[in-house]
Amino acid sequence: MKVLVIGNGGREHALAWKFLQSDQIQQVVCVPGNGGTATMQGCQNLSLAVDNFVGIGEYALSNSIDLVVVGPESPLAEGITDYLQNQGLMVFGPNKSGARIEASKAWAKALMLEAGIPTAKAAVFTEAASAKAYLYNQGAPIVIKADGLAAGKGVTVAETISQAEEAIEAIFQGQFGSAGNSVVIEECLRGQEISVLALTDGLTIRPLLPAQDHKRVGEGDTGDNTGGMGAYAPAPVATPELMARVQTEVLERTITALQSRGIDYRGILYAGLMITPDGDFRVLEFNCRFGDPETQVILPLLATPLEDLMLACIGRHLGDMPPIAWKTGAAATVVAASGGYPGEYVKGKVINGFVAADATGATVFHAGTRLNEFQEIVTDGGRVLNVTGLGADFGEAITQAYAGIREIEFDQMYYRRDIGYRVLQ
Ligand code: AMP
Ligand code: GLY
Repeated sequence: MKVLVIGNGGREHALAWKFLQSDQIQQVVCVPGNGGTATMQGCQNLSLAVDNFVGIGEYALSNSIDLVVVGPESPLAEGITDYLQNQGLMVFGPNKSGARIEASKAWAKALMLEAGIPTAKAAVFTEAASAKAYLYNQGAPIVIKADGLAAGKGVTVAETISQAEEAIEAIFQGQFGSAGNSVVIEECLRGQEISVLALTDGLTIRPLLPAQDHKRVGEGDTGDNTGGMGAYAPAPVATPELMARVQTEVLERTITALQSRGIDYRGILYAGLMITPDGDFRVLEFNCRFGDPETQVILPLLATPLEDLMLACIGRHLGDMPPIAWKTGAAATVVAASGGYPGEYVKGKVINGFVAADATGATVFHAGTRLNEFQEIVTDGGRVLNVTGLGADFGEAITQAYAGIREIEFDQMYYRRDIGYRVLQ
């Protein structure tokens, strides 16, 4: 098989890496890919934008691509699946109507309420005055969310009324473009977050191993929100009892609600959950894609061939597949970031130490990197690398990830030293 992976992050490198471990897959093409996918044996990059549906379709058809896997949310929300499926291609990822579950938080909230899915109390506003009136009534802390896609930057967990006012103003002043035409104001929940990514063919839905990521830039989970500074799986806080409730109260109810809206949702459904201190849970958000960096710890533990699962989703026979098989043990990933991230940072710094990092047994997934004209790997984003360790337990996995990342070096590189602290005794 030949697989085409759309996207350029650590998630897409991990997907390509996983595919190439299978005997069934000869070649992976990444669009546009990064420095890791450019240099991995069996993989190549194709320099097209992820929203160039016509170019991607022509390439896939003329190169006999058997499976197209879409990583990021924005092409899904723009209908890449609908377009490529109409060309006769096999595409993993929901269609445009399904991707609304991530592309509109107001729409997703309405679906959750209608389906009886446990979620944070919320209200939706289309202008600042009424949003602020609601805010003054509710008080702080409170959570302000731009309705649409905002590259992970549209959510403010406001500790004070003035922070919340600023967030509302920024949204309605157009900081997020049309994503800010409406705002969701939500009750602020405390607790531990987990990510449950589930595979679905629109009829059957099966969770992957639950993961946790560290979203804050600073140690002890402090400071600004980021795209994720590290992750681990399987998250022990997601007990079998909790996962059984998530299956019936979240995943199955969501699929039923989507069906009743005439939406044939096939791909990954990602539920971001808050586990409240009393052991209950609420859905904070849905995503229509694999999580990043959760994928970099979930896929290394997956024993069933990923392409078999994806083809079963596309072919609507996930229910006929045997249970998803997992390797025993645990995985952890640590993100190497560029000085300044999540604010301003400089790109183009040469990265050294890959050979030594590989020798530790860790797996280095590239996130924001590229291969330059001198065949050097240079930084090309804020989150640069995800170094994943595997082991019999979290202690071993985390030790391996840190052994790997310590070998890597680039100017102003930094990483959190406490990834997985909650799961280490
Ligand atoms: P979202 O994109 O909706 O997942 O929000 C991004 C992040 O904001 C989440 O991962 C949480 O860390 C935080 N967040 C979102 N909603 C809430 C909430 N209702 N209470 C507390 N934190 C939240
Ligand atoms: N790790 C959070 C996300 O992928 O949205």
